[in-house]
Parts: sequence; C-alpha cells; structure tokens
Amino acid sequence: MSTLVIGGTGTTGGLLAPLLPDARVGTRKPRQDDHVRFDWDDPSTFDGALDGVDRVYLIPPIGAVEPAPVVESFLARARHVRRVVLLSSSAVPETATGIGALPALVRAVPEWAVLRPSWFMQNFTGDHPPAAGVRAGEIVTATGDGRVGFVDAADIAAVAARALTDPEPHNTDHVITGPEALGYAEVAAIITDLTGRVVRHRSVSTAEMTDRLAAELPREYAALLAGLDEDIRGGAEDRVTTTVQDVTGRPARSFRDFYRDFLSRTSTA
Ligand SMILES: NC(=O)c1ccc[n+]([C@@H]2O[C@H](COP(=O)([O-])OP(=O)(O)OC[C@H]3O[C@@H](n4cnc5c(N)ncnc54)[C@H](OP(=O)(O)O)[C@@H]3O)[C@@H](O)[C@H]2O)c1
Repeated sequence: MSTLVIGGTGTTGGLLAPLLPDARVGTRKPRQDDHVRFDWDDPSTFDGALDGVDRVYLIPPIGAVEPAPVVESFLARARHVRRVVLLSSSAVPETATGIGALPALVRAVPEWAVLRPSWFMQNFTGDHPPAAGVRAGEIVTATGDGRVGFVDAADIAAVAARALTDPEPHNTDHVITGPEALGYAEVAAIITDLTGRVVRHRSVSTAEMTDRLAAELPREYAALLAGLDEDIRGGAEDRVTTTVQDVTGRPARSFRDFYRDFLSRTSTA
C-alpha cells in the first residue's frame, strides 16, 4: 500500500513526497517511476491513481471556486483509503459551499487531518504576485498593516508527513503558522536587509487589488483573493500557533532564516 500525494510536484507536495517511504506522486504529466497520472479535470484518472493506495494527501483543484463536487466524487471512488490529509487554509472559513465545504467531506473518512496553514513564505520566492513584487522592488497588496503568520511550506510538509504516518490518526484540524506574525512591510524590510536591494510594500484598496489580480486570473477568483487581503487588513491572520513544534518536535522556521536559505540556494544554483 502507498500514499497518493496529489500536487506532489507542487509547493507542499513536492516537499512532502520525499519524506514518505511509499509516496506515489499524482501529476498531470508523469515523468518518473513514482509518478502516476492524476488530473482533477479528468475523473478517468482517479481509479488508476488510487489503485493500491491506502492514504491520500489531498490538494484540492487549484483556482476552482466550487471544488466540492469533484472532490466528493473522488472520495466516493476512494472508499478503500483509510486516511486522508487535506490541505486547506487558515484563511478559509467552514462553509456549505466553495473550498470551505471540503473539510466536512474529509472528516467523513475513517482517519483524517485538515491542515490549515497560514500564508506560505514561498509566495515571496515562486510565481505568486508577492514574488513578482519582490523582483520589481514593490510588493502590492490590500493588506494595509495587517500581520500574517507566514509559514515555510517545508514545515507544512513535515506536519503532513506526521499526520499521514503516525500510527494514531490525528483526526483534528491543524492551524499551522511560522514563529511570528509579520506585516508585508516587515517582510519587505527583511528582504531589503538580506539582499541590500530596496523592496517596499504598497497597500491599495480591495477594489484596486481585484483589478490588478484580474489581469492574470479569472475575475471571480481575483475578487476572492483580494477579499482575503482585506481579511488580513482586519487582523484575521495576526496569530501564531505552536503546531509545528507540537507535531514535529522542532520549531517552525522564521522568515529571515527561510529567505537567507533561499538566497544561498539560488546564488549557488
Ligand atoms: N500559497 C499560500 O499562501 C497558501 C496558503 C494556504 C493554503 N494554500 C493552499 O495551497 C494549495 C496550492 O498551493 P500552491 O499555490 O503553492 O500550489 P502548488 O501546490 O504548487 O500547486 C501546483 C500543484 O498542483 C498540481 N495541479 C495543478 N492542476 C492540477 C490538476 N488539474 N489536477 C491535478 N493536479 C494539479 C500540479 O501538478 P502538475 O503540474 O504536476 O500536474 C502541482 O503539483 C491551494 O489549495 C491553496 O489553497 C496556499
């Protein structure tokens, strides 16, 4: 038996798969022996990906405003799966529809955990808008002075690995943050300090943020993301938890350590 890691080539899944002895990486484009074809947009891939699997790391379809029906049909084919660990988000409230409906589906599996990480530190290094802002010298958000408990995806992967492999199922929600809550201006100051290149934060209105994101994303999804910025402005993400320490036995990584490590890896790449 093995663990299907959906999104196993992505930000958290790519860090999780090497931590598992038996990972099967779900991807739309299999390239290696431990890869299996899996596509949320093609349900004919579900049965093959689930064959011989007893655990699943579940990343819902990215960008889907209403993912519950397809996740429900996937779980209906996964009745032999004993344990499912869902990647949700601390920013997503429990709702009857939308991505907030997914935790209830996963809690119906015999063994489960719902991961609710705060915003990823990797948003400042990958393809996300804040990373483009870092490169341009100006990070634009609608978050004002609101703080976020930014978390390293490696710490999320470490918690996920324990939730998938611990003999006792966790059967709980894990709110996962880094060790401190920082405003985007504070993050910009750390990056400036570490790189010697000035990076600033500029906060705009929620409406302007929606327009900016809609240049790259469907408008409905852009509005959803800008609304999350507005929540941050109101203090929704201004907290830290001890989940990483409690579950893995080691402390969560700070943004300064994360970014210093990122710079050293990219300068030697
Ligand atoms: N970014 C944050 O700050 C943050 C915070 C909290 C929670 N989250 C949650 O994290 C998740 C995504 O994080 P991310 O933006 O860093 O993305 P990511 O995990 O890097 O997502 C890309 C992954 O999704 C896979 N994928 C894309 N479309 C797929 C499809 N149709 N079927 C199957 N797999 C597909 C890709 O696999 P292939 O290309 O190999 O097929 C790749 O492995 C979201 O659910 C989000 O809600 C993010």
